[in-house]
Formats: sequence, C-alpha cells, structure tokens
Amino acid sequence: MEDYIKVAEKVNDIDGINALELNISCPNVKEGGMAFGVSCPSAVAVTEAVRNVFDGVLIVKLSPNVTDITEIAKGVEGAGADAVSLVNTFLGMAVDAQNRKPVLSTITGGLSGPAIKPIALRMVWQVYNAVKIPVLGIGGIVNATDAIEFMLAGSTAIQIGTANFIDPQVSMKVIDGIQDYCHENNISAVSDLVGALEV
Ligand SMILES: Cc1cc2nc3c(=O)[nH]c(=O)nc-3n(C[C@H](O)[C@H](O)[C@H](O)COP(=O)(O)O)c2cc1C
Repeated sequence: MEDYIKVAEKVNDIDGINALELNISCPNVKEGGMAFGVSCPSAVAVTEAVRNVFDGVLIVKLSPNVTDITEIAKGVEGAGADAVSLVNTFLGMAVDAQNRKPVLSTITGGLSGPAIKPIALRMVWQVYNAVKIPVLGIGGIVNATDAIEFMLAGSTAIQIGTANFIDPQVSMKVIDGIQDYCHENNISAVSDLVGALEV
C-alpha cells in the first residue's frame, strides 16, 4: 500500500501527467497488486489511499480473477475512481509435458490476447451497466472490429496490449478502422457507439 501512495504522491507533483492508472490486478509478480484487486475491501482501501494524494484523473485497473467484477467496480467508484479499466490478464498456467515442469518460472501467470476477448467483453458489459464512471475496455483486441465491439458493450475508450507484440502499428490501424466504420455507418461522433448495443 505504501508504495502505491508514494508513487501517486510523486506523480501528483509532476506537471503534464494528468491521469494515473492504478493497477491492482497484475497476476505475474508477487508484489503486482492482484491481492488488492480481488477483494472489495482492499480494492476500496487502496483506491481511497491513492485518491487522497492524487488530484488528477484516477483510473483503477480491475482484475478479471474475481467472482463478481461489478462489486469491485462499484466499490472503487465509491472510493473516488474517475474511471475503471478492465480487464487485466486471467490467471493461467502452461505445462511442459516432456519435462513434467511448469513452463513459467512463476508456475502460474497472466493469459491475454484473443482467447480472453469474449470474457472481457462480458465483464465490460456488466460493469458498464453497474457504474456511472467511464469504462476502458481491454482484452484480446487485435483490430477495429474488436474495438468497436468493446465500445458497443460500453467502453468509452479501449486499450491494446498483446496485439502490439504481433504488429506494433496495430493501434493506428484500429483508429483508421474505427473512422472507416463511422463513415460507412453515418456515425458522426464515435461516442455514439458507447453502450449502443441493442439488447
Ligand atoms: C507481456 C505483458 C505485460 C503486461 N504488463 C502489464 C503491466 O505492467 N501493467 C498492467 O496494468 N497490465 C499489464 N498487462 C496486461 C495488459 O495491459 C492487458 O490488460 C491484458 O494483457 C489484456 O489485454 P490484451 O489481450 O490486449 O493483451 C500486461 C500484459 C502482457 C501480455
């Protein structure tokens, strides 16, 4: 907890940094914060502590490794988060059958990329319907269609992780693709897509 507060205090004093994404959801390192992100009281406590020292836009990044992500989202909203981003990686594992050993040095680790997209979309949709603050969608986005799906499900903005390892220009291509989609469908403001899923 102290480390989060120290970093937030330092960042608060730097001109030009207007927003902070508080990652309480990394499953890959011992001190990565997932312990904070999987329990509502601790997610609320760390968000409150950072909110107290950081004046800019506070985005809290949520873990999908929970039973009910809406409960955590509502908790951090109440604790002063300006937005939530989701999802971080899903806790997974890989086994080397020949050597009978785990593939990862940490034995378990984060699963990302297209395999997680349907679950991430579901969580974005659930959180969008549970909170009033903006939702930033993440999880398996590799092209503009994926990004648009996340926006329709309730994402005000999206992030791309894994796809950058395959194509470092993917973000520019996604932006172009969203513009093309808007032109083709006579959508004048991209914000019109947010939460526009017809159910
Ligand atoms: C190699 C790798 C490193 C990552 N490092 C971080 C990190 O430092 N902080 C963080 O909040 N998320 C981190 N993530 C999670 C991603 O930001 C993202 O939430 C997740 O991978 C799902 O999106 P994707 O399928 O587009 O990768 C990392 C993911 C990968 C694959």
